[in-house]
This record gives sequence, C-alpha cells and structure tokens, in this order.
Amino acid sequence: MSLPDTPTAKHLLIVDDEPVILQILKAVFEDEPLRLSCVGTGADAQRIIEDQGCDLLITDKNLPDINGLELLRLAKETNPFSEVIIITGYASLETALTAMEYDAFDYVVKPLNNVFDIRKKVHQAIEKQNLAMENRRLLDSLQERNQDLETALKETKALQAELIQTEKLAGIGTLAAGVAHEISSPLFGIMGLAEAIPDEEDSGQAAEYAREIVGYCQGIREIVVELTSYSRASELEGVVAVDIGQVLADALRLVKRSANVDGVAFDTTLESGLVVQARPNEIQQIFVNLLKNGSEAVLDEHGPNNGGTVRVQAGREIDHIWINVHDNGVGIPEDRHGVVFDPFYTTKAPGKGTGLGLNVVYRIVTKYRGTIHVESTEGQGTTFQLRLPVDY
Ligand SMILES: Nc1ncnc2c1ncn2[C@@H]1O[C@H](COP(=O)(O)OP(=O)(O)OP(=O)(O)O)[C@@H](O)[C@H]1O
Ligand SMILES: [Mg+2]
Repeated sequence: MSLPDTPTAKHLLIVDDEPVILQILKAVFEDEPLRLSCVGTGADAQRIIEDQGCDLLITDKNLPDINGLELLRLAKETNPFSEVIIITGYASLETALTAMEYDAFDYVVKPLNNVFDIRKKVHQAIEKQNLAMENRRLLDSLQERNQDLETALKETKALQAELIQTEKLAGIGTLAAGVAHEISSPLFGIMGLAEAIPDEEDSGQAAEYAREIVGYCQGIREIVVELTSYSRASELEGVVAVDIGQVLADALRLVKRSANVDGVAFDTTLESGLVVQARPNEIQQIFVNLLKNGSEAVLDEHGPNNGGTVRVQAGREIDHIWINVHDNGVGIPEDRHGVVFDPFYTTKAPGKGTGLGLNVVYRIVTKYRGTIHVESTEGQGTTFQLRLPVDY
C-alpha cells in the first residue's frame, strides 16, 4: 500500500521510553515521506504536540512521566484529524477497549515482533485520515454551497415579494380602471333616463324610466359588492337564471342610449328560452361592450346609415350557450388578435376608449368558465364567438 499524495509531509511523532524500540521505529519510518519526531519522554512529546501539533502519534501507553492516553487526548485536542496508535505491554480485552474508548486508531503489543505490521497500521491510519479530511472538505464546500443557495433563495424571495408588490399595485390600477369602466355604462344609462324624466309627459313612461334607473343602480351596487368580497360564496351570490334574450334587449337599449350609435343597424337572431346561471348585470356588460365595439367598428368603416350592421346570433348546445357577435366593420389586423383582450389595449383616440371593454368581457366570460374567441379580417369585419356553460 503506498502513501497517498499529500501536499506537505505528515508529522509522525513516536514516543517510547525504551531507546531500542524508539530506534527500531525510527528505522521503520525513516524512508517514508513523513516528518519524523522521536522522543523518549511524555514531557517532550507534550511540548512537541503543543508547539507543532502532530498528524500521527505512536505512543507507549505506560510512559514514566505522562500516560500515553493523555498524549492521545492532547493530540486529538490540537488536531481532531490526528490518528494514534498505542503501544502496550500486554494484549488484553481491557487494553483494546481502552484504546477504542479513547478513539485510538489501533494498538500494537510489545515486544514488536513484526515491525512491518506497525508500518501497515500507520499507512491505514493515514488513509483513514485523508478520507476524513476529504469528507470534511466536501462537507465544508457543501455547506458553503448551501449557504450560497440559501442566500440566493432569500434574494429571489425578496425579489419575488417586490415583484408581487409591483404587480399588485399595477393590478389595483387595472382593477380601479376596470371598475370605472364597468360602472360608466349603467351610469350613462341612468343619466339618459334621468334627463328624459322631466320632459316625459306620460307618467307611466316616467315611472318605467325610474324603474330602469333602479335596475342600473342595482348593477352598480353589485359591482361594488363584488369588489369588497372575494369568497366563492359571494361569487355565487346574485347568480340567477338569466334570460339571454331579455339581457340582450336591455343591453341594446343601453348602448343606443349611451353611445353614439346612430346609423348602425342591429340584427338579433336568438333561439328562444336561452338561459344561463349568472349575474344578469355581468351578462349585460358582455353585450354592452361587444355591441359598442361593433358599432364603433362599423361606423369607422361605413359611416352612419351606410350598411354598417352589428348582428347577434345565439343558440344552445347540450351544455352551453353559444353567442356570436358579428359586425362588418373595420376588422382587426391578424397580429392584434392576441392582444385585444389585454387591459388598456386600444386603438381609439385618447379620451375615446380605455381599452378595458374586452378585458372586462374576457374576465366575466372566463369567470363563468366560458370561452371567447375573435375572428376578424381587416376591412371585412369581426366576429366574437362566445360559449357560456349553462350551469355555473
Ligand atoms: N368589433 C371590433 N372591430 C374592430 N376592432 C375591435 C372590435 N372590438 C375591439 N376592437 C379593437 O380592440 C381594441 C380594444 O377594445 P376594448 O373594447 O377592449 O377597448 P376600447 O373599445 O378601445 O375602449 P373602451 O371599451 O374602453 O371604450 C379596440 O380599441 C379596437 O382596436
Ligand atoms: Mg370597447
């Protein structure tokens, strides 16, 4: 067995009060790549250990001045990796146990009949020591890596928290603008109706306007309630069987009254008895936004009373209701199809559009586990295809 390569020679300290044994051991290890110290007293050994430390210690157990086991303890204290071989006068179970107890690498018994045996033991001790040191080194570097990872994790968490905060702030802005957008439609309706009431001579009609105002206020209240409560229970609150035909008619009236859609033809083809479980106000929002967008697109393309049409078709499949809102307006360029539902995406003049209409529609449709797609060709028109599950 050859000695493992070591950058600096290991220090082997041999302690025995019998000069002959010291001579023999010195001869055995002289040719080894080790730094050798041979002393005859415990006191000398103690001094060397304290001054220089030692990697390997071979010591007689029964020295006249200091017990060999005390030197062992000292060696381990100054260098935890040190390995010690005890020379003892007699082999007994007790000797073996004591050596083990003191964490000696091994022990040899006098007289030293086979000196090569002790050399072999030293080689094994060196191997064990190198392994232990390599393990320590690996453990240290692992701990260092761990530390690095922990630091990186902490930094990532801090960054994430920062991002979430930024995102939240951005989200609050979007939410606020979305709420403003959602409230603005019924508000326009209310204003129109309120302005009409004083001029209305038919008191029955005026009362009808007032009832409609109450309805719109109800819608606004729902939006506000939704804002302040997020639980699933409250999500289900206000969910009723919504008659699509009825809500579409309401939305059409609202759009005609609040937006400047004069000169746009509306055409609705609905199967009868279309019902979804939802909040009426939200389904109305869907129609209001799609009808408004369609109207604006056809007026852009054709101008008023020039063939611009917004057509709504709806029907029922087994578990869902489909709704198509089609217009023959300006259309949407192919590369914009993916962004029209993004908040704040608008091609309208400043002050004309917020870019939130389709985002509101998207949020409502997906909330009811529905889907919405856009098909559009520039200069020809656009169709929004919706599917709403019958049961929410
Ligand atoms: N039917 C349509 N035809 C052509 N383009 C459309 C149509 N619907 C939406 N778009 C395009 O998508 C954009 C986003 O629509 P969205 O309803 O989200 O916002 P907006 O209409 O611009 O503003 P707001 O709805 O707040 O008035 C529009 O600016 C327009 O470019
Ligand atoms: Mg819009």
